[in-house]
Amino acid sequence: MQQQLSQSAKIREAADYIRRSLRKQPQIGLILGSGLGVLGDHLTEAVVIPYRDIPHFPISTVEGHAGELMIGELAGRTVVLMRGRFHMYEGYGPELTAFPVRVMKALGIDRLLVTNAAGGINASFAPGDLMLISDHINLTGRNPLVGPNEEELGVRFPDMSDAYSRRLRSLAKSVAAEQGIELREGVYVGVLGPSYETPAEIRMLRAIGADAVGMSTVAEVIAANHAGIEVLGISCISNMAAGMLDQPLSHQEVMETTERVKSRFLHLVKSLVPQL
Ligand code: HPA
Repeated sequence: MQQQLSQSAKIREAADYIRRSLRKQPQIGLILGSGLGVLGDHLTEAVVIPYRDIPHFPISTVEGHAGELMIGELAGRTVVLMRGRFHMYEGYGPELTAFPVRVMKALGIDRLLVTNAAGGINASFAPGDLMLISDHINLTGRNPLVGPNEEELGVRFPDMSDAYSRRLRSLAKSVAAEQGIELREGVYVGVLGPSYETPAEIRMLRAIGADAVGMSTVAEVIAANHAGIEVLGISCISNMAAGMLDQPLSHQEVMETTERVKSRFLHLVKSLVPQL
C-alpha cells in the first residue's frame, strides 16, 4: 500500500523509473521558476519525462510552469532540470515540494541551481534585476524535514549556516563579472502565499533583513542542504514588492518581467553551468 511507503522508498521508486530512460548520470540539478523554464529548450540529447508519469511525483498547476523533468546536456554538463516546481500554496505539503530535490540527489546530483521570480524589497533594486541569494528566511511556517527523520536521507538537525554555498556564490559573481552581467545580492524571504503581501508585511520583511520575497525555494533548499547538496540560488526581481510603487501587483507583471529578462538570465546560467 502506497501510504505506508517511507520517503526513501518513494524516492527510490521515482529515481529508478527515471533512470530507465537515461544514458548518463546527471551531475547538476536545475529548478526553474515562473517564466524561466525556457532554459529547457537549450538542452541537447534531452529526455523529457512528464511529472505525471513519475511515481509519487506531484503535478504542478500554475500557469507558466510546464510540469516536466528534463535530463540532457547543457554547456557540456549533464543536467536534470525541473520545468515547473511545486509550491506549498498549491496545497502540497512541504515534503512533496521537496520530493523532486531528493529524487535528483538519488539520480546523482551534488549541486543544485534554484531560480525564482521574487518581489524586490530592497529599494535599490529594480524590476529585471538578477539577485544572487546570499541566504534565506523561511517564513512559510513549514519545513520539509518535519516528521520522523530517515537517516539515509540526512541528519536530524542539518546545519543551514552555508545554505547558499559561499563557494558557488563567489563563482557566480566572477562568472557574472566576466560576462558583463550585473548581479545583485541579498536575502530571500520565503512566504506561503498565494496572496501577495500587504504593504505592512513588506515593511516588516524589510525590517527583519529581507531583500526580496517569493513563494518558493526555501523548502527545496532545506531539503537540498539536508541531502548534502551544494546550492546556488538566483532570483529574478520581477516586480517591486507591495506598497513600494503606487500600483497593484499582478502575476501578469511577474511573467512580463521574466520574459524581458530571459535572455540575460539564460546567458548567465549557461555560463555558470560548466563551472559548477
Ligand atoms: N511577492 C511574493 N512572491 C512573488 C512576488 C512578490 O512580490 N513577485 C514574484 N513572486
